[in-house]
Amino acid sequence: MAERPSTQVLPHELPAALREAGLDNWIREPLDDAVDRRRRIIMPPAAAALGTPARGHQGPLLAEAKHPDTLFMMGDNPALPKLPERPTLRDFYLLRFDPIPRMHLLQSARVARENGLDEKVIMACLLHDIAIAGLLSANHGYWGAQLVAPYVDEEVAWAIEKHEALRYFPDEAAGYSYPSAYIDYFGPDYSPPEYIRREAEAARRHRWYMTSRLVTINDIYSFDPNVTVDFDDFSDIVGRNFRQPDEGLGFDGSPVAHMWRTMIWPNNFL
Ligand SMILES: [Fe+2]
Ligand SMILES: [Fe+2]
Repeated sequence: MAERPSTQVLPHELPAALREAGLDNWIREPLDDAVDRRRRIIMPPAAAALGTPARGHQGPLLAEAKHPDTLFMMGDNPALPKLPERPTLRDFYLLRFDPIPRMHLLQSARVARENGLDEKVIMACLLHDIAIAGLLSANHGYWGAQLVAPYVDEEVAWAIEKHEALRYFPDEAAGYSYPSAYIDYFGPDYSPPEYIRREAEAARRHRWYMTSRLVTINDIYSFDPNVTVDFDDFSDIVGRNFRQPDEGLGFDGSPVAHMWRTMIWPNNFL
C-alpha cells in the first residue's frame, strides 16, 4: 500500500523567516483528500505559546496569510481524526485524548471499580483528568469540572474540581500519601501556593470530601503496560452517570459547549 503523503511542509519549502523560527510543525499542506490544495497555518494558541519562543512569531505567520495559496486553519485539521457530527464522550476518548492520559483515566476508573466504589466515584475517576487529555493542563481540575458539569451529578463535578488541590495534601487516615510522582515532577521542596492550600482545607470540611479524596486515592501514576482497559468496559456506568446531549457535545448550546468545540477544532485560528 502506498504511503500517505506527509502533512508537513518540508523546511526548504518554508519562507526563510519561518524556517529560522523553526515553525515547520505549525504549517501543514492539506492531504490529497483535503478540501483544497491551499496551505493551512496553525497559529499556536496563547495558552500554549506564552513564555515560549513561539510567542514571538505571530508576525511572520500573519504575513504568510497574505499569500493567496495560504490560509489559517479553520475547521477540520486533516492531521486529526474527524469527529462525527454529534460527538459523544466516547468519541473524545477515542479520537481526541492523548494515549497516556487516556490510559491513566481508564486505569484509574478500573481500579476504582475493582475497589468496589460507588458509581459516582468511578465516573469521577474516569473523567478527572480529561482537561489534561484534551484541553489544558494548568488548572486541569477546574477545567475538567466545568467541561462535565452540565452532564454529571453535581457531586461528580465537585470531586473532579477538588482533586486538584487535595492531591497535594496527604490524609494517611484515609489512605492517601503524598505522591512520589510529584517529587519527580516538582522537586522535594515544592510547596503549593496559598490558594491551593485554602481550596484543600475547605474541601476537607465539605460533606463530599471523601468522594474527591477517593479520586486522589485511585488516581494512579504507575501504569501497568500489560493491562489494557477499553472505554466500552464502562459504557454501562457512563450510560447511567453521563447525560449525553442529543445534539452532540459542543453543539447543545450548554454554557460549556465551546470548550468541547475547542477540542473538536483545537487549531482554529479564531
Ligand atoms: Fe489530576
Ligand atoms: Fe490523575
